[in-house]
Amino acid sequence: IVRGCKSSGRQLNELSKIRKILVRTRYGPERIALGQFAFTNVDTPDTWTSYDRVTERSCAALRESKESGMEISDARMTTKPFRDCRRLAVDSRQKMFDDLIQKKVIPEEAWPEPMIEQFLIYLANMDTNNRIDMAPIGAGEREGRVASPLVARLHLHMSHGIGRSGNLTECQPKAQGSSMLAQIANEFVLQTIKLMGIPSCKGALIVPMATGMTLSLCLSSWRRSKPEAKYVIFSRIDQKSCFKSILFAGYEPITVDPIRDSETDSLKTNVEGIRSVIRNRPEQVLAVLTTTSCFAPRAPDDVLEIAKLCSEFGLYHLVNNAYGLQSRKCVELLEEASREGRIDAFVQSTDKNFLIPVGGAVVGTFKKAKVEAIAQFYPGRASAIPSRDYMITSLHLGKSGWRELLQQREELFALMKTKLEAFARSIGETVLDVPENLISLAMTLKTIPASKQTLFGSILFSRGITGARVVPSTMAKKSIEGYEFMNFGSHTAEQHVGYLNVACGIDETLSVLQIYRNPSKTLTVECKHDNVRS
Ligand SMILES: Cc1ncc(COP(=O)(O)O)c(C=O)c1O
Repeated sequence: IVRGCKSSGRQLNELSKIRKILVRTRYGPERIALGQFAFTNVDTPDTWTSYDRVTERSCAALRESKESGMEISDARMTTKPFRDCRRLAVDSRQKMFDDLIQKKVIPEEAWPEPMIEQFLIYLANMDTNNRIDMAPIGAGEREGRVASPLVARLHLHMSHGIGRSGNLTECQPKAQGSSMLAQIANEFVLQTIKLMGIPSCKGALIVPMATGMTLSLCLSSWRRSKPEAKYVIFSRIDQKSCFKSILFAGYEPITVDPIRDSETDSLKTNVEGIRSVIRNRPEQVLAVLTTTSCFAPRAPDDVLEIAKLCSEFGLYHLVNNAYGLQSRKCVELLEEASREGRIDAFVQSTDKNFLIPVGGAVVGTFKKAKVEAIAQFYPGRASAIPSRDYMITSLHLGKSGWRELLQQREELFALMKTKLEAFARSIGETVLDVPENLISLAMTLKTIPASKQTLFGSILFSRGITGARVVPSTMAKKSIEGYEFMNFGSHTAEQHVGYLNVACGIDETLSVLQIYRNPSKTLTVECKHDNVRS
């Protein structure tokens, strides 16, 4: 095209073909930079003419350089169109980086992968260990030095982490890029929480520890305001990290079992039970720990009523929203409860909600000061990895990507439920009726002898159904750090027939549904012959 110089009809046709291809590739800024000549010339005949003049000038420059013995390609690289193109390619990208740093808003549409990588490198270049405008001599004990090139590459040369001297949100002068990354990630996560259905959320913090440890961090940060308190009330959910989070924070748990709903199979919060525990010793209770997302047949806790109770008795209310951000039901509970009562913080895992490797959790609060107090309580610096991975994922998906994933999950859950119900009917089982739980399903296993139910779970696991979980029918006691639980796993001491849990988490794929279609025959035969082992 550059060589053509004339605006013939054929050239215009070619240009419009190129344009279509570039538009179809959805290659954002790359496309604009690379396709700049094609676009302007096709769309505006005026530019086409001036372009002709430019190229004629370029040809003259080329002729001249050829005569002077200069390489043709070198000479062309110095002509104005090339210089313009270079500037455009660099400037358009820089503008997007500057906008992101200034406004910290998740883009509506996804960024292309190379641009995300370049943005990270751009940030990394501001950390002292990567600067070339000065000699990074260091002379300190923590200068971001890394021995292995593989480790350095895995981290894109960011090695200072985030936070400073015991405040997770403080800027580290040695690591301006990493600090910026942490700020952007925290702003992004707040926007995502709002987008996912909690518009009243005012503060969000990514903590580089998983859910259980982050629950502990919140509880510990409140100790100073109620030094005489010894207990945390635990609305029972049979997941060890929630329970242990209370012990790790140095409190004694008082467990209140949920109660069976009279009309459905749901296990619901024993609000009156919790009230009577508080009434006996309000000054000794620090907080109530409730949970939204959980395995059926447990329903999400009655966060609203507990929020009112906590407000009445002046107690902290901590909500474990482990994978609840993706469930409309859980986020609605939080939003409503924050208006009517007290929620001091809600915690969710980064891997279960945001599709990044295990290692982080997010604290959300309805007052900005509350999240700042928790960030300040954190001892020391911290890994930047959860913040980095979450920021990358948000740029990779854009707001539209997050919305799409949430919508897909809801649709898939409905489909999963219908299929599981049909399958359960076909083998003489039932799916428990837990209308409040819109993530996890429970199918009875009464046709499998209690002694074989665990084996059935391992058969599913070995066939790749790694997320399904069997809760066998037993009356066994389990001890966790000296605290005894009857029927641990089922959230209640009640006897039951045994059941299978399956969940539909964010980004679940249709293939999971195959478990109901394909192995169904196998399961029926094996159950009838009481021959699970074979
Ligand atoms: C309700 C609930 N809370 C907490 C956790 C554990 O979280 P983490 O391993 O992130 O500490 C889980 C588990 O997977 C869970 O289901």
